Amino acid sequence: MMALLQENYVKKTELEALQKWFTEYVRGFYTNGADDFLDRHVRLKEEHTARVCEEMRLITEGMGLSREEEHLAQAAALLHDVGRFEQIRKYRTYADPKSVNHGQLGVEILDKEGILNDLSANERAILKTSVHWHSAKTLPEGLDEQTAMFCKLVRDADKLDVLDLLIGNFRRYYDDPEHFDLEVEFSDRPDVSEPVIQSVLNRRLVDYRQIQTLHDAQLVLLGWVYDVNFSQTLRRIVRKQYLEQIAAFLPDRPRLRQAIDSVFCYVRLQIGDSIDRPSPIA
Ligand SMILES: [Fe+2]
Repeated sequence: MMALLQENYVKKTELEALQKWFTEYVRGFYTNGADDFLDRHVRLKEEHTARVCEEMRLITEGMGLSREEEHLAQAAALLHDVGRFEQIRKYRTYADPKSVNHGQLGVEILDKEGILNDLSANERAILKTSVHWHSAKTLPEGLDEQTAMFCKLVRDADKLDVLDLLIGNFRRYYDDPEHFDLEVEFSDRPDVSEPVIQSVLNRRLVDYRQIQTLHDAQLVLLGWVYDVNFSQTLRRIVRKQYLEQIAAFLPDRPRLRQAIDSVFCYVRLQIGDSIDRPSPIA
């Protein structure tokens, strides 16, 4: 992909200043054990952020971006969940519907802290838009090509780590459901809801309200491949064997098999013959 803008993009020193700010900012939320719940949850998101930055690095390397664009992508990954810390401290939950839209809150924090003031108006707008929309079901219409690219990069990098986290959670739950320490939102019934199967078969995004069971949630994760923006991301999914791991949680039934096969088939078609050729997914 061509370098879209050469001038006025995030320099290495500016990225380093943001990283330093972020570390300090997060440190301010730790209570050193006085509030164990808060400490644990802050740590989760601090570690998540570090991994999303690494996923971003892996996605963007070899995409042909300029150094400055890579720095901007790193800044977006670093700041994407900046709203999480205030959210958990104030509302004691990461569930947006029960508290606040954490993307929006993130943008408010960036404004309040003024940490993007040294960047150009263009960079500032790109970062704020990608923080705002990183976890929305879809991106808004009408974003310019450049802004859309950074939004999509953040969404892909975030998804990669969330996949890893959720697979780990499912595994821990099945290994020892009695001692599972996170909220289990869905029923552990062995069924899969037909509307979810339909959506995945039709490559449609699932309306999250249709999710009733853990298996529904697992199938939805498989369907994420249709919401991935870059072939680098799909290749990472394949390399980490995320799809196989998720499929192994699901019962063996013909209708479900059909949906799983369609997902694997799509991924093979997308990256089958271009395993090392980076390109956006049409
Ligand atoms: Fe997020």
